Amino acid sequence: MSPAPGSRTSASLADLVVVANRLPVDRHTDDDGSTSWRTSPGGLVTALEPVMRSNDGAWVGWHGGGDEHEPFEHEGLSLVPVPLTTDEVRDYYEGFSNATLWPLYHDVIAPPAFHREWWDAYVTVNQRFADAAAEVAAKDAVVWVQDYQLQLVPQLLRNQRPDLRIGFFLHIPFPPSELFGQLPWRRELLEGLLGADLVGFQLPGAAANFIRLVRARVGLRTHRDTVSLPDGRTVLVRAFPISIDAAGLEEIARRPETERRAREIRDQLGDPETMLLGVDRLDYTKGIVQRLRAFGELVVEEGIGVQQVAFVQVATPSRERVEQYRLLRDDIDRLVGRINGEHGHIGTQPITYLHSSYPRAEMAALFRAADVMVVTPLRDGMNLVAKEYVACRYDGGGALVLSEFAGAAAELKQAFSVNPYDINGLKATMLTAIRSDPRDLRRRMLAMRRQVSDHDIAYWANSFLTELRRDRRA
Ligand code: ADP
Ligand code: G6P
Repeated sequence: MSPAPGSRTSASLADLVVVANRLPVDRHTDDDGSTSWRTSPGGLVTALEPVMRSNDGAWVGWHGGGDEHEPFEHEGLSLVPVPLTTDEVRDYYEGFSNATLWPLYHDVIAPPAFHREWWDAYVTVNQRFADAAAEVAAKDAVVWVQDYQLQLVPQLLRNQRPDLRIGFFLHIPFPPSELFGQLPWRRELLEGLLGADLVGFQLPGAAANFIRLVRARVGLRTHRDTVSLPDGRTVLVRAFPISIDAAGLEEIARRPETERRAREIRDQLGDPETMLLGVDRLDYTKGIVQRLRAFGELVVEEGIGVQQVAFVQVATPSRERVEQYRLLRDDIDRLVGRINGEHGHIGTQPITYLHSSYPRAEMAALFRAADVMVVTPLRDGMNLVAKEYVACRYDGGGALVLSEFAGAAAELKQAFSVNPYDINGLKATMLTAIRSDPRDLRRRMLAMRRQVSDHDIAYWANSFLTELRRDRRA
């Protein structure tokens, strides 16, 4: 049983509630037992943080611990922690979310695993998030549920709080029915999502996949982008490509200290003619192996020396207890070791490989320093790194090499497009980007900058929330 709205003091009830697996900060316990809050990894937090800064509201999410933790304010954001036990982290987060749904929704690049006890944990934890949202939402509030970890929350929440406006947004791809159909719990997930008034995806193709599945697997009537439910409710299904706080990041990029740091980075690399950059969570969807292999071959075949070209790859370790992620880390370690061992000299190596997580100003300096940004996911819902690079290139310089399998490719049409599975194509495109005429690069970059600044994160949030709040009763 969930408490009725108002069981918290009315001062703490929110008219806008975001529900996501992660809070924007994650609690870390250091070796000496002391704890600190760190920025959570990934694009979801990058995108939602500025949205919640400019809207008053509460953010419900896991704080990184298993203990009950009171709601608290952090740097102006109102946070409502949801605990996860060690077993739930294993079964709901590492298991069902990241070893079943994540690979299944990303083209089965890695084989998804199906375990009934993972599903049971997913149901239990989704109920806990729904209860937490029900408790914090004011009467008639808007609740915006985020991402694949919480697909049952819309319906679980509606069961307790029919007064709410419920939105759902999926940050990752939504697969075609041939893949989704593998899931033993396919119907339950679809019904969970249909608890929302508005279901948002990154791309129109994903929305179309969902509509088709609802017809085929739940047997409901659909008309264009709406689903009609037996109780008379309709669910709207649309694409809302997510974005970044472009102006905020550009402001950081324009600071003199960022420029100084960008120059320093190039100096430290030995002042190469061209610096290439990759920035990713260490995830098998990102195509890091393909990109580094292509670069390694370029160094050999084109005789490009370390004086001429430097590749900086930042890869933040992610989901390290999931086997596929451990295997990937070993693969990349070996590949980087081999390329650097064969082609490096004392003091200079072709690939600088970094595992750290950096503040935004350091990221902006890296983007400012890089001549070629290499973004080669095998499948990606959007890829905010590509948009961040564009936002930082206020000088109109720099080349973006972008996989056609990133959601961002639909908007950043002037990027150097690649199929990351095609290593020869990847090499040829990287070489073209390295050798391009600055006037051509400028024309491409200015067009991409217009797209990103006109369709920033405020545009995304306003489009979604306006549609969600619209009264659609005829
Ligand atoms: P995903 O959400 O799958 O990780 P995105 O490219 O959409 O991929 O978003 C990644 C976000 O994480 C971006 O905002 C990027 O700047 C940030 N990021 C990635 N690596 C690092 C790092 N090493 N340090 C700080 N931020 C990082
Ligand atoms: C992607 C997902 C997010 C997730 C992030 C980081 O952006 O869409 O939901 O939060 O990766 O992954 P993690 O498992 O560390 O939360």
